[in-house]
Amino acid sequence: MARIRVIGGNQLNGSIPISGAKNAALPLMIASLLTEEPLVLNNVPRLADVSQLEKILANHGVDIAVHGRRALDEDDRGQRMTFTAAEIVDTCAPYELVSTMRASFWVIGPLLARMGEARVSLPGGCGIGTRPVDFYLQGLRALGAEIDIDEGYVVARAPKGGLIGNTFRSPGISVGATHVIMMAATLARGTTTIENAAMEPEVTNLAECLNAMGARISGIGTRTLVIEGVERLHGTEFDVIPDRIEAGTFAMAVAMTGGNVLLKGARPEHFSAAIDILRQTGVHLEAEEDGLRVVRNGNGLVSIDANIDTFPGFPTDLQAQFMTLMTRASGVSHIKETIFENRFMHVAELARFGADIRVEGQTATVTGVPELRGAQVMATDLRASVSLVIAGLAASGETIVSRIYHLDRGFERLEEKLSACGANVERIGVGYPD
Ligand code: UD1
Repeated sequence: MARIRVIGGNQLNGSIPISGAKNAALPLMIASLLTEEPLVLNNVPRLADVSQLEKILANHGVDIAVHGRRALDEDDRGQRMTFTAAEIVDTCAPYELVSTMRASFWVIGPLLARMGEARVSLPGGCGIGTRPVDFYLQGLRALGAEIDIDEGYVVARAPKGGLIGNTFRSPGISVGATHVIMMAATLARGTTTIENAAMEPEVTNLAECLNAMGARISGIGTRTLVIEGVERLHGTEFDVIPDRIEAGTFAMAVAMTGGNVLLKGARPEHFSAAIDILRQTGVHLEAEEDGLRVVRNGNGLVSIDANIDTFPGFPTDLQAQFMTLMTRASGVSHIKETIFENRFMHVAELARFGADIRVEGQTATVTGVPELRGAQVMATDLRASVSLVIAGLAASGETIVSRIYHLDRGFERLEEKLSACGANVERIGVGYPD
């Protein structure tokens, strides 16, 4: 099985192109189900999750064409892909396809809106908590859908004549539930108001794409989205935003090793809470015309507390990476995870490097140590796996990270990007997924 080997100690210098955001590309791809016309997406990252969703969409009858394979050159724009759902041939998303990726459950929104029915397996994904779908189901019921659970599947039916606009206040802030209810409401009769909506940049990206397809969504980027239903949506061409989690991860890697790296294409306004915290630890970050420059020259890191929160707060998807950084800071940092209840699995692996971390409830207390030592470690989930690579970059000696299939779900050619900046990191064993 493929593993990653890191020999720590090298600084990172140069520039890293930031890929299209996985968490934006997935819902945009799913939005193609809402229209029979082609949806062209630019800057789609090459990731295992994208390939998996291609399979799921193909099963519904979506025709998929790829126009540009990526290469990590100067003008890289990722893949350009066309998704055409001229005819939906199957409204069932089966367990075998859905179980490995939670986002695949999101097809329920467009299928229900366009076809009036959907049968979708309950989702899988990273084992970072129970991750229920109750908000989704409440939202779809608010739009008039009838919903049953049958042998692990959610079976949803729209009323005769289609979904009906309504006001839905989500009991909690959920990115996925906001995506699904918003997509479903675009084709509903009348107006839908989603209160307590997620306002992550990926939600904004989807809302703007839907509007480009003819939807009428206002309140974009706020906690209240208003969607006036339309008869039909049409095709368009749209850009996937750059991946703020990838950018934040590389910023932490540079903070960890020292060096000077331009994160090309990064949009600082998409992860300003993380940037603020990194600045407080002593890292220099500066927006430039074509991205974000991260510099750390020799100075020690200062421990800072972080409270994880929904956007615009510090993202949960950067929590593991930040914790890794704090293992080498001077002092004590408290990191409070408020989004997922089981997102500290990396703590036991970080301890193998010699990190000093104590977990009580939802708070991890990290006491900085003078040195990390390379170790054999195992990736436990997508974001945790990259935190182990970052730890290896700053540790003395050799680190081997196994179970990196987690990494391939969400980080495009990580080793290549890091090596180009001077890191000693390579993949051993089997290569990239298709
Ligand atoms: C998305 C992201 C993921 C990120 C997360 C939080 C994608 C593909 N994934 O996941 O990387 O970590 O947002 O920013 O975009 N909840 C319920 N009931 C529901 C729905 C959610 O209780 O019906 C809870 C979840 O268990 C969790 C919290 O709400 O505790 C937030 O989850 P949510 O925002 O829905 O995360 P995802 O959309 O699954």
